[in-house]
Amino acid sequence: MKYNAIDPNLFIENRKRFAASLKPNSIAIFVSNDIMPTNADGSMGFVQNSDLFYLTGVDQEETILLIYPDAKNNSHKEVLFVRETNETIAIWEGAKLNQSEATKVSGIKTVLWSNNFDTFLKGLIFQAEHVYLNSNEHSRRYIDIETAEMRFNKGIMAKFPLHKYERSAPLMHKLRAIKSSYEVELIQQACNITEKGFRRLLGFVKPGVMEYEIEAELVHEFVRNRSRGFAYGPIIASGFNACVLHYVDNNKECKAGDVILLDVAAEYANYASDLTRCVPVSGKFTPRQKQVYNAVLRVMKAATAMLTVGNTIPEYHKAVGSLMEKELVDLGLITMDDIKNQSPEWPAYKKYFMHGTSHFLGLDVHDVGDFNRKLEAGMVFTCEPGIYIREENLGIRLENDILVSEKGPVDLMKNIPLEAEEIEALMKDNKLESLLS
Ligand code: GLY
Ligand code: MN
Ligand code: MN
Repeated sequence: MKYNAIDPNLFIENRKRFAASLKPNSIAIFVSNDIMPTNADGSMGFVQNSDLFYLTGVDQEETILLIYPDAKNNSHKEVLFVRETNETIAIWEGAKLNQSEATKVSGIKTVLWSNNFDTFLKGLIFQAEHVYLNSNEHSRRYIDIETAEMRFNKGIMAKFPLHKYERSAPLMHKLRAIKSSYEVELIQQACNITEKGFRRLLGFVKPGVMEYEIEAELVHEFVRNRSRGFAYGPIIASGFNACVLHYVDNNKECKAGDVILLDVAAEYANYASDLTRCVPVSGKFTPRQKQVYNAVLRVMKAATAMLTVGNTIPEYHKAVGSLMEKELVDLGLITMDDIKNQSPEWPAYKKYFMHGTSHFLGLDVHDVGDFNRKLEAGMVFTCEPGIYIREENLGIRLENDILVSEKGPVDLMKNIPLEAEEIEALMKDNKLESLLS
């Protein structure tokens, strides 16, 4: 891991809140993700299970957390199992956490080796009435493999079929939606790294540059600042590509006169940031590009102001739709007749703005949380309106990360250049600087 040590109180407090939401006499178990294979002896980089990380801070494979708040033996209320390390592992893979290091990271006093888990559970589970198991219940999950979690759950339910099984996911969605100050600080660090990357590319973009060269600049800046890299697949889409919402090829040349849509952001300590900016390849927007840019910017500013305690996302999305409708009429893209004749399921503005404006942000870029829950202090959302005009080879989206607070919305990306004129000025200054150096 490249990130600095995290205060274990984050995980201690998370476990306390989770334990308090269990039914009496319950055991809850969380397992780490698998290391996913590629081919031959290759593997993808390890990504920890977000819920296990949230409750332990352990960023290692073959980790299990057991929580049993009503355990008779105090040392069994929280038990962490980590992969037993040995000399061979140390030589080939490097150091893994030993037991005292695992305690330091997580704040959990009882740490055992993972290969003792089955025996340990057998000795304890007969005392418990409920068993909480976890699963990915994200509303937009797409999983067609058996994950470590699914495999584990199947095994436990087969071995102990007469227990009452419960779902941890609804509890985790509720808890994770509200970020503690430790978490906000980690998301802020991810945003700060993203800012460095964005400022770097303003001096790099010019006609003829390839989209993947911009991607390389960003990776360089992110990793040298202790990030693992992008928080999600980066979208670096010039010209018409910006109208392909999930464009990830990033393999075209950036042409003079085009605008590049950059949906690119760093992770830090497993926490995501999520940024979108649009920059002119030649360093200056055309009047029409600026007109569309400023329309999106106005919607973004007004939408951000609505991310307040007590509002709901469905109401907010409706209000943003009305703002967008007006902008699209003013841009000559839709008419009042289109609005009069629109279907309520697919309003006219959706032709040019076809995605949602906000999603929860946290350990996952599309973080867990209930969209029908009223907004509360501590929630973090993106704000990302866009206008995509295929017939003009132009897509503009602007995206910042916003903390909902009692004092109103707090923009965690307020230091990242956003006004069109500021971006043009920085591109000019950075070019002059590189010519002189
Ligand atoms: N970067 C993914 C999103 O904006 O939702
Ligand atoms: Mn994004
Ligand atoms: Mn987003």
